[in-house]
Amino acid sequence: MSAANPEEGKRVYDLDRKYVFHSWSAQATLNPMVIAGAEGNYVWDYDGNRFLDFSGQLVYTNMGHQHPKIVAAIQKQAGRMATIAPQHAIDVRGEAAKKIIDVSADNFSQVFFTNGGADAVENAIRMARLHTGRRKVLTYYRSYHGNTTTAIAATGDQRRWPNEYTADHVHFFGPFLYRSPFHATTEQEECERALEHLEQVIMFEGPTIAAIMMETVVGTAGIIPPPPGYLEGVRALCDKHGIIMICDEVMAGFGRTGKWFAYQNYNFAPDLVTFAKGVNSGYIPVGGVIISEKIVATFQDRVFPGGLTYSGHPVAMASICAAIDAMHEEGTMENATNIGANHLGPALRELATRHPIVGDVRGLGVFWALELVTNRETREPAVPYGAAPSYSGGDNAVGKAAAECKKRGLLVFATGNRLHIVPPCNVGETEVKDAITILDEALAVVDSYAV
Ligand SMILES: Cc1ncc(COP(=O)(O)O)c(C=O)c1O
Repeated sequence: MSAANPEEGKRVYDLDRKYVFHSWSAQATLNPMVIAGAEGNYVWDYDGNRFLDFSGQLVYTNMGHQHPKIVAAIQKQAGRMATIAPQHAIDVRGEAAKKIIDVSADNFSQVFFTNGGADAVENAIRMARLHTGRRKVLTYYRSYHGNTTTAIAATGDQRRWPNEYTADHVHFFGPFLYRSPFHATTEQEECERALEHLEQVIMFEGPTIAAIMMETVVGTAGIIPPPPGYLEGVRALCDKHGIIMICDEVMAGFGRTGKWFAYQNYNFAPDLVTFAKGVNSGYIPVGGVIISEKIVATFQDRVFPGGLTYSGHPVAMASICAAIDAMHEEGTMENATNIGANHLGPALRELATRHPIVGDVRGLGVFWALELVTNRETREPAVPYGAAPSYSGGDNAVGKAAAECKKRGLLVFATGNRLHIVPPCNVGETEVKDAITILDEALAVVDSYAV
């Protein structure tokens, strides 16, 4: 960590406030955290404060900050071939695609690279529409799929509301036992009723459905792992009705759930998979679509009408190769699984027994949510659905809890009425213990919001 330099911190802050237009915000209300550096599990500011980063920034630093192998690969690639257009064949592009196919289910054969997650979703939907000759796309209400035109229309949560400009998107309820739309009381009931609901939606929408797209484990809209059997049931419905099944693994993929892909926690394989974020821990912007053989076949003699100037950018490709190699070499999947099952998960559940503000604890691997409620019986959310995001400092239990964590040196991801606890996949037991101690203190401050 570099020495404190508050003057430089002020200069950086002023530059940002004067010239940078930020995402998702009314610009005049912003007060961004100023970050001076980052390494491993930590980031630090210009005032000499260090923070344990359990936010993953936007849930993407799966190998932590400044992983030396990924940084070295980027430096080396920039030195030997900083750019080459996508129509040419180059070593790192083929190698990155092969490494992704090697950890995918057997039915996948090729990768189309994009610049990030939203354009991966755009192109997966385009492939499904062209492959089936149909238009409609079904997605969960509780979902986020990105902020380009089609991806935000596919999104179910409130980020869609000001952005709905395209047709042929239909939303349905996925399974979520804690707030069951089906009055279910067990995971099995929730699973069966959610599948019945989906089959009804399919029937009433008619034979024009190209794709059902779901986040395999819902991410920003709640960290909601599906009940056993649900996704297998969706797969069966897709097969019955000739619908393409897309798993959006932009957030859940590459170790977040303790597997290369979240679908590998279940017994099915989708037709298309979107990825970004964790594939290279976000060191260079990149994403893509992993394509099954049957959809690759559609475009053997027929033109795929899509492309991007930076598709398969060499520096991004080198970073993917290094990140995947490092994950293999360092046992990252095993670590994330172990941390979730034996350390982070049990510790969060234990916190819930002592803090009345915590209504539910959900997750797997290094992908966990604490749902904050003002009343455990009624499950009244501590922040109403669709309210302004509760970032640190917000005047509610979630914003306050995040601010109390930050004050004590821990960054978590606060959204809706939840704290998302999403450390790197290579996090250690010690950091988890440190984070739990801080969370315990922060939750004690906001317990008074609960009756
Ligand atoms: C599941 C999911 N899909 C798509 C996206 C969009 O990715 P990007 O922001 O890289 O466009 C996100 C981003 O958070 C996401 O979580």
